[in-house]
Amino acid sequence: MRVVALLPAAGRGERFGRDKLEMPLGGRPLWRWSYDLLASHPRIAHVVVIGERTGVPWVPGGATRQASVTQGLAHVGDADAVLIHDAARPFLTSTLIDRVLDALAEHPSVAAAVPVTDTIRATTEAGVTILDRSRLLAMQTPQAARVELLRRALAEAGEFTDDVGALEAIGIATHFVLGERRNFKITAEEDYWMATTLIDRATDAPRVLETRTGLGYDVHAFSTDLLRPLWLGGVRFEGTPGLLGHSDADVVAHAVVDAILGAAGLGDIGVHFANDDARWKDAPSALFLKEAATMVRTEGWALIHIDVSVLAEKPRIMVRRNEMCAAIAEALGIEANRISIKATTNEGLGAIGRGEGIAAFAVATLSR
Ligand code: CTP
Ligand code: MG
Repeated sequence: MRVVALLPAAGRGERFGRDKLEMPLGGRPLWRWSYDLLASHPRIAHVVVIGERTGVPWVPGGATRQASVTQGLAHVGDADAVLIHDAARPFLTSTLIDRVLDALAEHPSVAAAVPVTDTIRATTEAGVTILDRSRLLAMQTPQAARVELLRRALAEAGEFTDDVGALEAIGIATHFVLGERRNFKITAEEDYWMATTLIDRATDAPRVLETRTGLGYDVHAFSTDLLRPLWLGGVRFEGTPGLLGHSDADVVAHAVVDAILGAAGLGDIGVHFANDDARWKDAPSALFLKEAATMVRTEGWALIHIDVSVLAEKPRIMVRRNEMCAAIAEALGIEANRISIKATTNEGLGAIGRGEGIAAFAVATLSR
């Protein structure tokens, strides 16, 4: 029996509030977990991804899940049967795929489902009914069926949130196999939190911990304009003239941004915030810190630690270091104890030693 997998991935994630399928999960976008497992399963000939996803061939989806599945069915070639799995269920296992496919040899339609363990209370106009839990099943995917039957069901039935519903509507009974509770659907933020917590424990999931380090360096000369404010690490220093630069010339923040971007291999500050762009004229460098943190998080990175050395003859830095740590931490969205700031003079040597400017080095540690 030639089985093609359909992976509906065209949903808009309205209850989640954004495209949940692109959320990072253990170093991959969420949808990739089920895709990779299906694509490497020996009993699955091919995977049809429904909805635009980068890095894999895909076909357009529709306005509802059922419309998306219908679209996908047009691309299954000479398959005898399809196995449909929601891309929003990342914890699919090969055992569950096998269980569904084994049953499909005996039945025209098969679906994974789990018993309901909570008490279900239905409120209707007639009052409250406590449903008989022993008769309830919570439907999951995979759901699998003979191609011809499913085509007919989707054409003839009304709108259903799963495929079994449509098949039953045209009189085809489904055989249920036991699903897995960890095969839950990511619907709301809390589900995503559970998924990230679980990812290291899921037996089929490789433990992925990758750590990278980035180095940043920046230097700015003092301005001759005595009224220009001096900003270092997001903190205003009085009594010393400011540094020359297009933005606020916060040399500490700039070194930190470069270290973060460097660790993630995302270029440097000049690539993202050009120093001839009017938007950044006198801009507070907290903006760059915030943006850099967002960029690396989008790639799945967590900011683990930042270490900074400031090279300056004046002003005195260490007395303000807690404020600087707090300001940088706030801009990056991490705890202040993940930031370390140190300072040294240049012992009178060179331009920094002559007090012509301030330099800073930063090292960022990221992991995912
Ligand atoms: N899906 C789809 N096409 C649609 C709607 C849903 O391919 N028009 C897919 C989703 O991407 C998901 C699966 O069907 O993998 C189950 O849908 P659901 O969990 O409801 O996801 P969304 O529809 O994206 O979420 P919401 O209902 O909160 O908008
Ligand atoms: Mg939906």
